[in-house]
Amino acid sequence: MRSFDASELNTPQLQNYLQHAIAPRPIALVSTIDQAGNVNLSPFSFFNLFSANPPVCVFSPSRRVKDNTTKHTLENLYEVRECVINIVDHNILHKVNQCSADYPKGINEFKQTGLTELTSLQVKPPRVAESPVQLECSVIHIMPLGKGPGAGNLVLAEVKQIHFKENLLDSQGLPIQENFDLVARLGGNWYCRVTPENLFKLPKP
Ligand SMILES: Cc1cc2nc3c(=O)[nH]c(=O)nc-3n(C[C@H](O)[C@H](O)[C@H](O)COP(=O)(O)O)c2cc1C
Repeated sequence: MRSFDASELNTPQLQNYLQHAIAPRPIALVSTIDQAGNVNLSPFSFFNLFSANPPVCVFSPSRRVKDNTTKHTLENLYEVRECVINIVDHNILHKVNQCSADYPKGINEFKQTGLTELTSLQVKPPRVAESPVQLECSVIHIMPLGKGPGAGNLVLAEVKQIHFKENLLDSQGLPIQENFDLVARLGGNWYCRVTPENLFKLPKP
């Protein structure tokens, strides 16, 4: 084994080692708005589901490593505590990647990438029409994990409304896993795609 004392690694090294090992990570494409109504859309792979009752997801917009500034998504959420978590499939991955470019604040990534804004039912930020699953959420807590470059900010988002594309549910309303075509982030520039050949079932003991 090769072992590292975490306190002796710098932030890019820690990020690189941990993101290769803690993978694959699902991707939340998060839409938010600021107080003036400007829309923002950005991807986050520090993301998962943490509770079903109440239904709560967590994602983490980190402080930028290069200059310790905060991401527009986080700034918007302090102003308007609502978001839509749009799930990412293979079909939209390239546009999702484009959304992560360093646009100036106030630039709407929907317009930059050609993704389509769809009005939400319970929250103000729009959904991504092309996303297979859209989760309208209200933010119940924001927890900064530090003040330095790379520090995460946990956003606890309670799911209020769930939208599925028609082909993802069977006639009884049950999800068809093979149809989701999900993608996930690994380390560096690596991604993986959940294809039917990669899927298997494991019965509970
Ligand atoms: C697939 C993917 C996943 C990402 N995950 C995160 C993440 O979990 N946390 C984070 O701070 N940045 C993450 N980024 C980078 C942000 O998307 C990027 O910094 C973006 O410009 C932030 O936008 P904003 O300032 O408009 O909120 C990710 C980028 C990509 C392409």
